[in-house]
Amino acid sequence: MKYIIRLSSYARKSSLLKMEAPKMSKVCYSSFMHNKAYINGQFVTAASGKTFEVRNPANRDLLGCTPDMDVSDAQVAIDAAYDAFQTWQNTTAKERALVLRKWFELCEKYKEDLAMIITKESGKPLAESIGEMTYGSSFIELYAEEGKRVNGEVVQSPSPSKEMIFIRKPIGVAAMITPWNFPNAMITRKAAAAMAAGCTCVVKPAEDTPYSAIALADLSQQAGIPSGVFNVVTSSKANAADIGTLLCTSPKVAGLSFTGSTAVGKLLYKQCSEGIKRIGLELGGNAPFIVFDSADLSKAVNGLMAAKFRNTGQTCISANRILVQSKIYDKFVELVKETMQKQIVVGDGAEKGVTFGPLINESQLHKVENLVKSSLDSGAKLLLGGKRHEKGGLYYEPTIIEDCAEHTPCFAEEIFGPVVCLRKFESEEEALAIANSTNSGLAGYFFSENLSQVWRVAHKLETGMVGINDGMISAAEGCFGGIKESGIGREGSHHGMDEYTYFKYLCFGGLN
Ligand code: SIN
Repeated sequence: MKYIIRLSSYARKSSLLKMEAPKMSKVCYSSFMHNKAYINGQFVTAASGKTFEVRNPANRDLLGCTPDMDVSDAQVAIDAAYDAFQTWQNTTAKERALVLRKWFELCEKYKEDLAMIITKESGKPLAESIGEMTYGSSFIELYAEEGKRVNGEVVQSPSPSKEMIFIRKPIGVAAMITPWNFPNAMITRKAAAAMAAGCTCVVKPAEDTPYSAIALADLSQQAGIPSGVFNVVTSSKANAADIGTLLCTSPKVAGLSFTGSTAVGKLLYKQCSEGIKRIGLELGGNAPFIVFDSADLSKAVNGLMAAKFRNTGQTCISANRILVQSKIYDKFVELVKETMQKQIVVGDGAEKGVTFGPLINESQLHKVENLVKSSLDSGAKLLLGGKRHEKGGLYYEPTIIEDCAEHTPCFAEEIFGPVVCLRKFESEEEALAIANSTNSGLAGYFFSENLSQVWRVAHKLETGMVGINDGMISAAEGCFGGIKESGIGREGSHHGMDEYTYFKYLCFGGLN
């Protein structure tokens, strides 16, 4: 039961639910952890020979040193992707599906190994990492099939001497800047859609988690994905901005997809405007999580545990502002506190039974610490936790604060940490006004057993995604994306292919 509440739907099928020891393949996970980037089908060092350290957030142990590439290396990757596009775009969707399917099968085969890499570099509990692998691979599986359904249209011509046809073409080289919180799935969600459409990719993974990207490159090579179609450029934070600028401005890059902070997303959007590039942005959220009087409280508590504590709260769609109607407020808060105390096991994600890992790095820990402190200074009340965990390192206590107002920092900003921020409300109108009073609009959640209310609130919440009596909305088949400052474009589902294709209108004239 513990894990059923903690884990997402995609992880529920995992054997770890029964708390079995993970089954590693005969290959050790570390054999996928090359200290190399991957360009044009080769594992390569940076031209400068420079490297940067990657550490395990659970204990700060050194995992290895990967190439600290700069713009000159990134240019080599762009050139390789550009050249590969000239042939990859002419392959059939079926040919692309066959190699993508093989990539999916290899990701499944080595799921536990790649999950261990996710845990080592991101600190995520192993059961969640296995869940992320299932999630990540499901994008490859889905897009291997969806690629075959990228069809054009023949429309009714206004003239008898003309025929009008729209065909769909791949946009070209797609650049991807991916985050550390889902180091596998945020790559496959973008790259599989792009590659299925006939595009080639240059992926720049986050500096905290390059090994998952490199492991995916290894399996792409084993799957027979041709050289230059999937490239991974690793770099430290110091070179990331310049590489980002190159990806946004290179004439050889047709589009950029980014998952990360709103501040960086705005900068990339500006930079892409110069060359009128296609852009997909999946940015920060500030998700409202509303519990109405009519809610089934056990569903709502389970929903909150999933939506708040997945990846220790470091998820763009994490529940950020918890709004609870007055009649059930005390009962709900008591249940949440009890459930957190019972279910959360803090520790190194590689250890059996751990459900709650460290934060990713020192700057994230500082951010969460300061947000809680300034929220308490501004009048919020502490109910649980509220400080660094006694384990030390990058661990922060599961925390609850209440009496949050609109100006409370934990309410006004995306926390990206394990903090439940509560506010009591009286009416549906009040809840909607609070929920919508933000520039973010990624996900929203609410719990209600009143059908008319469900329909009303689902329409009125100003977010791109709504979980209705559900705290876990992520799935490859879902249409993921935000409105307002939370981004543009959609990932996942068949709509995810739209980002990597354009319509070409063919007008056949002079027909007899
Ligand atoms: C994210 O946090 O950016 C992605 C979360 C998800 O896909 O569920």
